[in-house]
Amino acid sequence: MKIGKNGLTVLEKRYLVKDEEGKMIETVEGLFDRVANAIADADLHFDSKADTKQTAKEFRNMMTELEFLPNSPTLMNAGRPLGQLSACFVLPVGDSMEEIFEAIKQAALIHKSGGGTGFSFSRLRASGSTVKTTGGVASGPVSFMRVFNMATEAVKQGGTRRGANMGILRVDHPDILQFIDCKKDNADITNFNISVGVTEEFMEAALKGEDYPLYDPRTKLEIGKLNAQEVFDKIVDNAWRNGEPGIIFLDRLNRDNVVPSQGEIESTNPCGEQPLLPYESCNLGSINLLSVLKMDKDGTYVIDYEKLKRIVNTAVHFLDNVIEVNRYPLELIDKTTKATRKIGLGVMGWADMLLRMGIAYNSDEAVVLAEKVMGFINENGRKASHELAKTRGSFPLFSESVFASGAPLRNATVTTIAPTGTLSILAGCSSGVEPVFAFAYIRNVMDNTEMIETNPILKQVLVERGIYSDKLMKEIIAEGSLQHLPEIPEDIKRVFVCSHDISPMHHIKMQAAFQRHTDNAVSKTVNFTHDATREDVREAYIQAYKLDCKGVTIYRDGSRDSQVLNIGSVQ
Ligand code: CDP
Repeated sequence: MKIGKNGLTVLEKRYLVKDEEGKMIETVEGLFDRVANAIADADLHFDSKADTKQTAKEFRNMMTELEFLPNSPTLMNAGRPLGQLSACFVLPVGDSMEEIFEAIKQAALIHKSGGGTGFSFSRLRASGSTVKTTGGVASGPVSFMRVFNMATEAVKQGGTRRGANMGILRVDHPDILQFIDCKKDNADITNFNISVGVTEEFMEAALKGEDYPLYDPRTKLEIGKLNAQEVFDKIVDNAWRNGEPGIIFLDRLNRDNVVPSQGEIESTNPCGEQPLLPYESCNLGSINLLSVLKMDKDGTYVIDYEKLKRIVNTAVHFLDNVIEVNRYPLELIDKTTKATRKIGLGVMGWADMLLRMGIAYNSDEAVVLAEKVMGFINENGRKASHELAKTRGSFPLFSESVFASGAPLRNATVTTIAPTGTLSILAGCSSGVEPVFAFAYIRNVMDNTEMIETNPILKQVLVERGIYSDKLMKEIIAEGSLQHLPEIPEDIKRVFVCSHDISPMHHIKMQAAFQRHTDNAVSKTVNFTHDATREDVREAYIQAYKLDCKGVTIYRDGSRDSQVLNIGSVQ
């Protein structure tokens, strides 16, 4: 078992099965056995003589070797009574009391099981419009979002993890200005990430400084105009203030909607990486890129593409099986998910892999390699899905999909790049495709002692070069970066760049490189230093648009009272 100390702590705290008194009744080995066996059993749905023992062994090894991990709900719930295995759901919100409160109930059931929900509120009538049955005045999308937020807050107490939501409003909804401001106060609507759903028409109007139309969601009639540049500036100003709202490019989500007959994609999951149709769910899994490095004859690290291919094949098999044994929170979600069978295979440990290979994250070489690695995963992932289709059949809506004239596919989408917030701690690697946030920091452990945590790859290099010392680490802790330290040699400085050493433009270039080879979307936060200007943020949003990203999320250091990652220390 390769799992490290921090990974074990997370497993013990949150994943291992406990009895009613909170006593652990599962070991770490037991967890991986439980998950591997439950997921391998799905093979029997297609072949009553399938060797599930052998498959379970492959699945277990892939997890215990930290080569691949499925999303948290699969680790928590596989082979257990709840059995809900997906991280991502999108629920529709219709323009009636019944539909609104139905969606709240459905979301509560999903949160209870560890899944996250995305909603578009664009179908709700504008605030101030009339309510036919009562003659009253409608509250509008933002008021209802507060109700969703409260429900999530209440479920938090009893659920397996903090419920997360994505709230989206189309930029041409009459309440858009109110929506853009709805999280201006950091303490408001805290269980939501919010994104403005923008259209190409809006972006072009914003770049030209023109007006664009607003539509009544019920009649679809134009009811007014706003200046696109002013609205865009307002989005940028708020994002500069505290990181929200983000933007999603709705037309691009729908350009890549592979079954357009099923309607429009109007939302993503909470962290933005998984666009889905209403009532669709998707299970994710991530390959730890550090695990596919091998030492070359000359002592440098290179990618073992054969091994990567093997992991991709087993991972696609695993994720397709998850769809079979998953216990869906609603009948309709079961049916909708199985009609397209979307899976989201992605990567983690990208930044660590670059460090090992001696390639700077902010170099053109890294961007070229990103395309090569993700291109390889995407291509082989699709091949694996094709192979599965030969024995299991293609996804039921295949003949209505954009793939209809080509080779059969088991899954309508294969790749997604998730944040891997917890998975990367379990695997002991950098998260998703993000750069390293800080090379050293202080971890406050439970008995109030402080421990210095250093990026293991940096530590190894510094030790080898004979320059490692606690004093040096403390100087790194102060900035997260090592660029300011004269005692660090230039060749180390060039490669060991952290998030704030990398220009926002390069963050976006990396996101765009991964996006080009990802069926769904890429979770990425463009991190700015505290002194970044609104103009810098505006430029990043425009570049994300120009480089064909599907969305963009930014964060300026220190712009919220409480932030997930802090330079200096973590709890
Ligand atoms: O690493 P882990 O599998 O726990 O999750 P992640 O990759 O950080 O997040 C993947 C997705 O899980 C998010 O986009 C959400 O859809 C969902 N999620 C959630 O619902 N609640 C959380 N507290 C964290 C993630």
